[in-house]
Amino acid sequence: MVIENKNIILGICGCIAAYKSCDIIRQLVKLKANVECILTKSGSQFITLFTLQTLSKNKVYQDMFEIPDEWEIKHISLAKKADVIVIVPATADIIARLAYGRADDLLSCTVLASKADILICPAMNTNMFNHQATQTNIKTLKDYGYNFIMPEKGELACGDYGDGRLAPVEVVISSIINLK
Ligand SMILES: Cc1cc2nc3c(=O)[nH]c(=O)nc-3n(C[C@H](O)[C@H](O)[C@H](O)COP(=O)(O)O)c2cc1C
Repeated sequence: MVIENKNIILGICGCIAAYKSCDIIRQLVKLKANVECILTKSGSQFITLFTLQTLSKNKVYQDMFEIPDEWEIKHISLAKKADVIVIVPATADIIARLAYGRADDLLSCTVLASKADILICPAMNTNMFNHQATQTNIKTLKDYGYNFIMPEKGELACGDYGDGRLAPVEVVISSIINLK
């Protein structure tokens, strides 16, 4: 996919690895993509709207029930304009919500309402990642046609060593470029 002028909706969830989304946004903006971020409520415990807004040069969305400046149903308009939705980092929780077709926040609602390519980049503790529930949810989403960039083995923020570390930024960028 040529990134220039593409609408990339970036979902950012509640993980320590949320700070890595800043670098991803910077690189996508350098490649002239239009990046619009959806920050989950938990995500805002790890990174601020202000940082994401400054780097993406766009308003950051979080609250499904925020009164818009003009008439617009945000999750539908974002879902329609997206060329690709990238969730980076993706928590076990958002993966579970999406696998169950939940639509209880702006990010899950937007994904459910979109026909765009979906790219999910999980990051979590090894036991969370290897848990049968998470693996089953990932399989369900793969069956729906969602793309995954699997996490790496490495040292995790919690101090453990194992699977669950977010894929490197350059792998995320090249995976977006390599989408059909
Ligand atoms: C310090 C801290 C670090 C966390 N790191 C992760 C993580 O790396 N991966 C994950 O799946 N959940 C992690 N969580 C739990 C999520 O924040 C929690 O499941 C939350 O409900 C995720 O919501 P979201 O998917 O809407 O962002 C962490 C929680 C805390 C307090």
